[in-house]
Amino acid sequence: MKKILFVSSEVHPLIKTGGLADVAGSLPLSLAQLGQDIRIFMPNYGAIKYNREVHKKCTLHIDNRTIHILETKLPDSDVIVWLLDYPDFFGNKGNPYVDEHGHSWINSAERFALFSRIAVEIAQDRAHLDWQADVVHCNDWQSGLVPALLSIEPTRPATVFTIHNMAYQGIFSQETFQQLNLPGELWNHHAIEFYGMMSFIKGGIACADHITTVSPTYALEIQTPEFGYGLDGLLHHRHNELNGILNGIDLEQWSPEHDTRIPQTYSAGRLAKKLINKTALQKHFALPENESIPVIALISRLVDQKGINLVIECLESLIDYPMQFVLLGSGDKELEHQLKNLSYLYPDQISIKLGYDEDLAHLIEAGADLFLMPSLFEPCGLNQLFSQRYGTLPIVRNTGGLADTVVDTLAETIADQTATGFVFNEPSVGALLETVKRALLIYANSKVWKQLQKNAMKKDFSWQKSAKEYIALYKTL
Ligand code: ADP
Ligand code: GLC
Repeated sequence: MKKILFVSSEVHPLIKTGGLADVAGSLPLSLAQLGQDIRIFMPNYGAIKYNREVHKKCTLHIDNRTIHILETKLPDSDVIVWLLDYPDFFGNKGNPYVDEHGHSWINSAERFALFSRIAVEIAQDRAHLDWQADVVHCNDWQSGLVPALLSIEPTRPATVFTIHNMAYQGIFSQETFQQLNLPGELWNHHAIEFYGMMSFIKGGIACADHITTVSPTYALEIQTPEFGYGLDGLLHHRHNELNGILNGIDLEQWSPEHDTRIPQTYSAGRLAKKLINKTALQKHFALPENESIPVIALISRLVDQKGINLVIECLESLIDYPMQFVLLGSGDKELEHQLKNLSYLYPDQISIKLGYDEDLAHLIEAGADLFLMPSLFEPCGLNQLFSQRYGTLPIVRNTGGLADTVVDTLAETIADQTATGFVFNEPSVGALLETVKRALLIYANSKVWKQLQKNAMKKDFSWQKSAKEYIALYKTL
């Protein structure tokens, strides 16, 4: 049994902006079920929604700041969550990272440097919590300084740094570094210095004992210039201490058999019932209620990574086909605007909901026929996993975790019942369009379609397997 401090800047259901929160809210549960002593550490944001009791555990003084650590538990579990309580930095009610215009909070570096420093105090049992970590498992740039800071301690726990997305690195100026009152010895290119700037993510990559990312294919991709954002050389240099472990999904929340957020539960053996959700979805999106028209869906942060431009261009050509398209997302204002315009032009076929809505995300997964993920890159991706569980066949680009989890529909994969979706290579409108058309053609053959749905629904995306891989890794450190 290991004592693991799991450090994450977001944890579902307390706060979520993307898949990191899903992972941080479900992997620790699985690790706990497998007998590990795990504590989650995250900031106490003003926007957190608590559904368990919260109480103060201790008080620390750092740089003339008085910081409290609060304790709560993950819902329906005994997994302890420690929260860094410092309202001057984290008290506002907005998004954890950006203001209402999508710009990073002006004090991002200070916020997450403090977060990392307190994580180190907890890990070293200097926070009056009477708990000494064996392993500190950090996630993404917000906790990238933790392995760096621990690397200069005389004795310390082992460190793992998981990369969920190389596109977000936490890069700041040298002046900011000086203001943060961090140990000067970290300012070198073997630690956090990155071409004259300070890089939080580099702290994790350069200094952790082991690096993981969230799919085997992404672990290879980030060692190339196209996906490595200037850190591909370092990642390649560390390839013996780098591997990919696929994300799982929380089957308590994401199972069509007992999902309480959808109008009608169903299973692979009772697929006809899925149609009740389809009609409810069409109604919700004010589209004609017609069971036989294929509904293509997309749920996403609207950012470049997700290939939304390809979708927008592709939709114009798809309008001549019998199909409906629904999208739930928010992000880039220009993309939001273009999508809304399309829905005004083709109100019977395209319907867009801007915003963040978890209940609606469940209805979409349950009601749609196809799910689009034409990502330019995708470290793992969770929606293609949810989609397969719900018999909503994903159309994905052959990259990262999408490549590792979706099996393309070909003559041979239909025959051996392994096909679970549709995969294309080139990040081009032509390739996406051709693949959507291919999927629509197969949709017309209900016998084959049903078999594909069954193939997808029986796949095991539970956390069990991956959690065991993490435990095996912790043991080697
Ligand atoms: P990423 O972390 O890059 O955003 P993932 O596929 O790993 O991508 O995870 C995204 C998570 O966020 C999924 O759980 C998805 O359902 C959810 N999500 C994204 N946008 C929305 C939204 N607008 N409303 C509800 N859930 C959303
Ligand atoms: C990131 C990635 C996504 C991944 C998620 C959880 O946000 O973009 O692909 O699934 O983290 O690991």
